[in-house]
Amino acid sequence: MSEDELGAGAGESTDGSDGTAVRRDRFSGGPARGFMSSLADDERIFAADLAVDRAHVVMLAEQEIIDDDTAGEILAALDEVEDAGHGALSDGEDVHEAIETAVIERVGPDGGRMHTARSRNDEVAACIRYRLREDLLELIETVIEAREQLLEVAAEHTETVMPGYTHLQPAQPTTVAHWIASYEQALQRDTARLLSAYERVDRNPLGAAAFAGTPFDVDRERTAELLGFGGIVENSMDAAAARDALVETTAAAATLATTLSGLAEDVVVFANRGFVELSDDYASTSSIMPQKKNPDTMELVRGRTGDATAGLQGLLTTLKGLPRAYNRDLQRAGRHAWDAIDSVTESVAVATGAVATADWPVDDLEAAAGEGFSTATGVADRLAMAGVPFRTAHEVVAAAAGEAYEGDAPDVGALEATAEDVLGEPLTEYVDRETLAATLDPAESVATRDSRGGPAPGAVEAQLATAGEALAADRDALTERREAVESAAERRRTEVDGYV
Ligand code: ARG
Repeated sequence: MSEDELGAGAGESTDGSDGTAVRRDRFSGGPARGFMSSLADDERIFAADLAVDRAHVVMLAEQEIIDDDTAGEILAALDEVEDAGHGALSDGEDVHEAIETAVIERVGPDGGRMHTARSRNDEVAACIRYRLREDLLELIETVIEAREQLLEVAAEHTETVMPGYTHLQPAQPTTVAHWIASYEQALQRDTARLLSAYERVDRNPLGAAAFAGTPFDVDRERTAELLGFGGIVENSMDAAAARDALVETTAAAATLATTLSGLAEDVVVFANRGFVELSDDYASTSSIMPQKKNPDTMELVRGRTGDATAGLQGLLTTLKGLPRAYNRDLQRAGRHAWDAIDSVTESVAVATGAVATADWPVDDLEAAAGEGFSTATGVADRLAMAGVPFRTAHEVVAAAAGEAYEGDAPDVGALEATAEDVLGEPLTEYVDRETLAATLDPAESVATRDSRGGPAPGAVEAQLATAGEALAADRDALTERREAVESAAERRRTEVDGYV
């Protein structure tokens, strides 16, 4: 059915106003006008809305729902609206209404045909997904770059021994590379979560109209193609109402933020102990204490995790219990996600930049790595490998640790004496003195822990190699998605140029 057949002819917008300003006569606006407006927030989806408008108008013309000349005039007006920018839009309830008003101002009443066979409900849902997709691609790219940086620095530090902690107490020696690779691995999973969310974001809700579909013969696959969406959201009620794509993206961002906050906290602790020297670009000074160099950037990364968590919380709270199909509460959903995503995207680059440019004082780290008798587990492991039941070996080493001075490692002699007390036979029955001495050395201790995924240099090199392959695969996945979006933009432009 064409628009004329349905009686929404020239001179009337679909809402029946005079067509010079959208629905001007029905609501003149009262004290709540500003309260209801999302126009300022909508700057975020201004470009998305223009893309959605163009795809919709091209489809309407192709389906002969509007004629080609009208399509051409509307599309030309949209170009002007784009050039003038979001700031030039006149006051309105939202960007959708304001752009439509701007089109009608330029084209006349026929400009109102742009809104045939759609509603702001499917329109805004499409805009959110379109913009979210862009933000996701940028975030994924930032994470991929971060991973690349981390892998590079890790490769330089597979032999840089450092203390490893549990309960923030010295636990076992590890290496800087092992520590960095642990975060890179977490970022791999964060990337996977973001890429997975992308699949469900990348669906076209357009054509759902208010929620109940439309009598016009719309081609939803075509608008999906023109907008580069990988498919459509099938059910029109779901298409207009669902915001779970926002939720899972924000959840993935908040999870990523949590990864980053751990990394930031580690760096704060390391800086406090003199294990890392941040580059000046990532540190700040005190306005009063001249000697200070503070890891403020890391504290802010830690702090901004709060924004991401708050965003997720805000979003879920906004959405919880909303009935089908559209409710205006939804207008408040996007901002939570945008805040979270922006915070996280900035934090990724800062956190990894700080790690990548930091100085690791190798000798101090190695000296610290043995503190607190951190080689104790390695000694017990060695005794167990020589045939002492692990629990007994644990007892031997615990007794030696108890006798050593203030958490220092016992020396070989002290170990032997305690062992003989516990075992009732000389320790040399199990291990020679040289082997025992080696277990007390942090670097040797690390070298022995060559189990898969462990900190021994060879084991970490293997991890880095696998991580490099995963990184390349993720890069390809990103490129493929970017290309899909870009080629859709070109296709859209070509089609638009055919009318203008
Ligand atoms: N600004 C609105 C939003 O963001 C657009 C949809 C308005 N729809 C409506 N039925 N009032 O959700």
